[in-house]
Amino acid sequence: KKVVLAYSGGLDTSVILKWLQVTYNCEVVTFTADLGQGEELEPARAKAKLMGIPDEHIYIDDLREEFVRDFVFPMMRANAKYEGDYLLGTSIARPLISKRLIEIAHETGADAIAHGATGKGNDQVRFELSAYALDPDIKVIAPWREWDLNSRTALIAWAEQHQIPVPKDKRGESPFSTDANLLHTSSEGKVLEDPWEETPDYVYSRTVNPEDAPDTPEYIEIGFEKGDGISLNGKATSPATLLTELNELGRKHGIGRLDLVENRFVGMKSRGMYETPGGTIYAAAHRGIEQITLDRGAAHLKDELMPKYAELIYNGFWFAPEREMLQAAIDHSQVSVNGTVRLKLYKGSVSVVGRKSPNSLYSERHVTFEDDAGAYDQKDAEGFIKLNALRLKLLAKQGR
Ligand code: ARG
Ligand code: SIN
Repeated sequence: KKVVLAYSGGLDTSVILKWLQVTYNCEVVTFTADLGQGEELEPARAKAKLMGIPDEHIYIDDLREEFVRDFVFPMMRANAKYEGDYLLGTSIARPLISKRLIEIAHETGADAIAHGATGKGNDQVRFELSAYALDPDIKVIAPWREWDLNSRTALIAWAEQHQIPVPKDKRGESPFSTDANLLHTSSEGKVLEDPWEETPDYVYSRTVNPEDAPDTPEYIEIGFEKGDGISLNGKATSPATLLTELNELGRKHGIGRLDLVENRFVGMKSRGMYETPGGTIYAAAHRGIEQITLDRGAAHLKDELMPKYAELIYNGFWFAPEREMLQAAIDHSQVSVNGTVRLKLYKGSVSVVGRKSPNSLYSERHVTFEDDAGAYDQKDAEGFIKLNALRLKLLAKQGR
């Protein structure tokens, strides 16, 4: 029996690796993804080797471009936000990890995959719904739902008993649970579990405090083609490079911090702290370019579909027909979303201050309060208002 484990190289997944070997007596293939979490990946290889994993069973993949191009950008085309605010940084990474887990399972002849998500959260659902959608016969091992190591102390004791090195700073309680990639870093648990308590400064890892950000604003320009970002300040960039550079700008100006209590798919509410520096800038820019390039009917329909689309991603239904249907409609809306947006970054805020496009639907001739040279006949508005008012007048006559 062979199992592919989503392996970060951290303490938890190292314990899981060993636990799979001991409990299931199976061969383990490790998969470590570079999604831009900003961690060295070679230590994961060394640790896997130390636990007896042969080289050909250690997979380390740089998925940054695929992540941004095929997951983040399509999602951004929809302006997706869950429950009004959350830019879905963790949610959108899970289907990609599952996709690679399944591919590696097929390459290595494994019949199972394993992940380190707890039995209480969304991530287990996302990993597994994606996996089953891509391979209905795959087996899933979720150690957190099986073992009895349900405290930090028990986990560390087990690690020591099995000669797994425990880093010094992990001996105490870890301060909170995090997940990071190119789009965001999330923090949950521990000090954040009281939703009345303000997030302490040390929780933030990739943005400066807006109060300490530069006192002078910075202006940038993002170019778009078919709804995707293609350049920064006039220089062409790949998707992952663009997001990386926006992250640096967002960090400097303290942009993209979010303190949110959200509804998990499994039914409970949880409080999270998110930092999405580049993604927050990108999302504002995308809205900016849509302002002049999207027809009103298309734009409003898109906005109506968005909460549904965001919920599908949050709940783990990326590889589901209804998400693909919505994606097709959203992508269709983006054919003319071309042009450039100018943004102002200043002390935690990002504002669109300019937009231009070869496909602009904005007509200064029509909208101007000056002489419009016959572009628009103000008299037309009279009948327009009369007919729209008709039912309101009839209601008012009835005293309603
Ligand atoms: N609450 C967020 C979400 O469901 C973040 C989850 C973070 N996951 C983690 N393993 N720390 O998308
Ligand atoms: C976890 O349960 O592993 C993290 C939180 C979540 O998935 O919602």
